[in-house]
Amino acid sequence: MDSILVTGNSALNGVIPVAGSKNACLTLMPATLLSEEPLTLTNAPQLSDIRTMGALLESLGTEVNSLQGGKVIVLDTRAISTHTADYDIVRKMRASILVLGPMLARGGHAVVSLPGGCAIGARPVDLHLRGLEVLGAELDLRDGYVHAKASGGLKGATFEFPFVSVGATENVLMAATLAKGTTVLKNAAREPEIVDLAECLIKMGAQIEGHGTSMLTIQGVDSLQGATHPVVPDRIELGTYMLAPAICGGKINFTGGCRALVGAFADKLEEVGISIEESNTGLVVERKDNRVTAVDVTTEPYPGFPTDLQAQMMALLCTAEGTSVLEETIFENRFMHAPELMRMGAQIDVSGGTAKVTGVDQLKSAPVMATDLRASVSLILAALAAEGETVVSRVYHLDRGYERVEEKLSACGARIERISG
Ligand code: UD1
Repeated sequence: MDSILVTGNSALNGVIPVAGSKNACLTLMPATLLSEEPLTLTNAPQLSDIRTMGALLESLGTEVNSLQGGKVIVLDTRAISTHTADYDIVRKMRASILVLGPMLARGGHAVVSLPGGCAIGARPVDLHLRGLEVLGAELDLRDGYVHAKASGGLKGATFEFPFVSVGATENVLMAATLAKGTTVLKNAAREPEIVDLAECLIKMGAQIEGHGTSMLTIQGVDSLQGATHPVVPDRIELGTYMLAPAICGGKINFTGGCRALVGAFADKLEEVGISIEESNTGLVVERKDNRVTAVDVTTEPYPGFPTDLQAQMMALLCTAEGTSVLEETIFENRFMHAPELMRMGAQIDVSGGTAKVTGVDQLKSAPVMATDLRASVSLILAALAAEGETVVSRVYHLDRGYERVEEKLSACGARIERISG
């Protein structure tokens, strides 16, 4: 298993290009199942999660062609050859559940294993299932699989999500594009990835209104056509790397980045003393003062502070002047990075969904272990600021969500290398 060796404590300066969004790409890819014509995605990130989704779609009959080193993905699902998404692939990634809605909408039936994914909480899929049931799906849970049928096709209906779910909104939205009549989804997620999906579906001929607000109205159509769509830039990758100059000092230009993607997060970074400016190529982030100051952070659905940047923000606050309180409201088990950061000298007190972080002058190196995708990159950030050499092990989590992490950071002067093993 690979590890990453980081020799910390030097300022970072340079340019980091922002990749296409992993989460957006993972929801755009299953949209191929809605159409007989090819869907071409450009600006795709080169990540193991994307390859896993490609393998899942191939197992269902999609022809997947990866061009330009994976930056362009052509998906062609002339026919769905099998309607079963097998446990062996689905267990690797929770987003696999997103094939359920499209498969059901196009073919009238689907069997999908219940998913696995990061160990950051129970993460059920009940809202996905309830939304599809409201559209007329008959569901049966047997042997770890969801068996779904829509005899006579799905029918438009009104559904209000009891709380915001990104994945459930995506699944039900895709299914509703081919349902008969009008679907209204209330309390829908508003994340940029949902907007990106809706824009792609509209290019494919879907009739959708209200994306980017909490109410989506979808007028079902008989069929969807092919389209070409660029994947939106990855706001989580951007936010993660924005923390690199914040924690180490220095100045980095993030090409392709823009403030609108990281609004609430950027506001917090400015509050702790980081300068953020839009340039004509992207977003320039600089730490001018010596030490950042503490700030309280509560994770919320978009447009609030993203849960996917909480672990990385905690790494920064471990070095801030004063005490910060981080409240995690989306996932119940998302402080697994805290004990690892404490091995590096951080002072963190976790109680339920709240972590109290008292900043220290200097983090120190220690062997640490990645526990999930965002936790792993928070350890890399901490290691970049720490004194000495830190080895972060179990970095396969990292490869699921960050392309060429060593390359992007070392281009800015970070001393970081992968140790194969
Ligand atoms: C997506 C993102 C993930 C991000 C999360 C929240 C992808 C591939 N992943 O995950 O990176 O952290 O949004 O921004 O896009 N829930 C239920 N029942 C359901 C669905 C969700 O109880 O049927 C709960 C979850 O356990 C969680 C909360 O709702 O506590 C929000 O989850 P959700 O927004 O659905 O996250 P994902 O779509 O899985």
